[in-house]
Amino acid sequence: MTSTSSSRGEHVVQQRGGRAASPANDPVHAGDVPSNRPPGPSDSPGVVIRRFSLSRDYDDVIDLWRRSGLDIGPSETREGIAKKLERDPHLFLVAEREGRIVGAIMGTNDGRRGYFYRLAVDRSERRHGIGTALVREVERLLRRDGVVKVNAIVKADNAAALEFYERLGYDHPALTVVSRRLT
Ligand SMILES: CC(C)(COP(=O)(O)OP(=O)(O)OC[C@H]1O[C@@H](n2cnc3c(N)ncnc32)[C@H](O)[C@@H]1OP(=O)(O)O)[C@@H](O)C(=O)NCCC(=O)NCCS
Repeated sequence: MTSTSSSRGEHVVQQRGGRAASPANDPVHAGDVPSNRPPGPSDSPGVVIRRFSLSRDYDDVIDLWRRSGLDIGPSETREGIAKKLERDPHLFLVAEREGRIVGAIMGTNDGRRGYFYRLAVDRSERRHGIGTALVREVERLLRRDGVVKVNAIVKADNAAALEFYERLGYDHPALTVVSRRLT
C-alpha cells in the first residue's frame, strides 16, 4: 500500500485498473438489490446491498456514521446529501439486514477518478465481509462508468481502516491532501 498524509492527518489510498466495465449488466435501482449478483457479502447471509434513499435512510446512516466515529460535516446535511445524489446517486450504497442499516459507503465520480467517503459498518457486524462487499460494489459500479482509478481518504491514525484497505489491495502513494473550506 502506498501512503499519503494531509494537513488534517489524512491519507489517500488508491486502487487502479481491474477488469473492463460491462454496461449491459447490473443497473442498481433506488432501493433495489442488483439482480445479477448475490444480494450481499457471502459470509454475512441476510445482508443486502442497495442504493441509499434520502427519505428512507438519512437518519440511520448519520447515526451509523456518528457511532462509527466519523465526522459529520456541513456536506452531510440533508441538503448536502441531496446535492450529491443529483450527481451520482448510484454510488451511495447501504448494507441492510432485516430493515436495519448495518453499513454505508458514499462513492463519487468526478468524471475522471472515483472516490470513497465515509465507509462504515455497524460494530456488531464487523469482520464479516460487509465493508469489503460495499467497497467491491462501488468499485464495480465505477468500472462500469469507465473509471480506472479510485481513491479513499483515510485519517492517518485510523490504523484499522488502513489495514482494511491494504487487505483490499489499496496502495498509499506519496501524496499529501491539502484542503480549505470555501464557506
Ligand atoms: C473499516 C470498516 C469499514 C471495515 O468493515 P468490516 O465489515 O469489518 O470489514 P471486512 O469484514 O470486510 O474486513 C476485511 C478485512 O479487512 C481487514 N480488517 C477489517 N477491519 C480491521 C481491523 N479493525 N483491524 C485490522 N484489519 C481489519 C481484515 O483483514 C479483514 O479480513 P478478516 O476479517 O478476514 O481478517 C469498519 O471497521 C468500520 O466501520 N470502521 C469505523 C469507521 C471507519 O474507520 N471507516 C473508514 C473511514 S475511511
